[in-house]
Amino acid sequence: MIGRLNHVAIAVPDLDAAIATYRDTLGAEVSAAEPQPEHGVNTVFVVLPNTKVELLGVLGEDSPIAKFLERNPDGGIHHLCYEVEDIRAARDRLVTAGARVLGSGEPRIGAHGKPVLFLHPKDFLGTLVELEQA
Ligand code: CO
Repeated sequence: MIGRLNHVAIAVPDLDAAIATYRDTLGAEVSAAEPQPEHGVNTVFVVLPNTKVELLGVLGEDSPIAKFLERNPDGGIHHLCYEVEDIRAARDRLVTAGARVLGSGEPRIGAHGKPVLFLHPKDFLGTLVELEQA
């Protein structure tokens, strides 16, 4: 059911420093920062030949990554995003299999303007999983 790895997301305490690490130290192509106020994060995409890395910085007071950064003050891998062809069909299959979908269970528009859902990390080997309709 899942397809390509769309991105690996890393939550970072300092987005400018993270951009410099990927752009200057690792020599990667880095997009401009895009604030996502409805998601409480600032996002930057590192474009690699076969996938992307999403750098997530805190935006606003109720950022969903604030707690993660409390536990991981240096930053860390926050989630993996897999592409699916039909996000509602994927959700229904997963819910039937007993997996928990976070939030309302309805897809929301994510950082690429496409519908996304997040799956509970306890159901997926301790890893938060994002599904994005390709
Ligand atoms: Co993501």
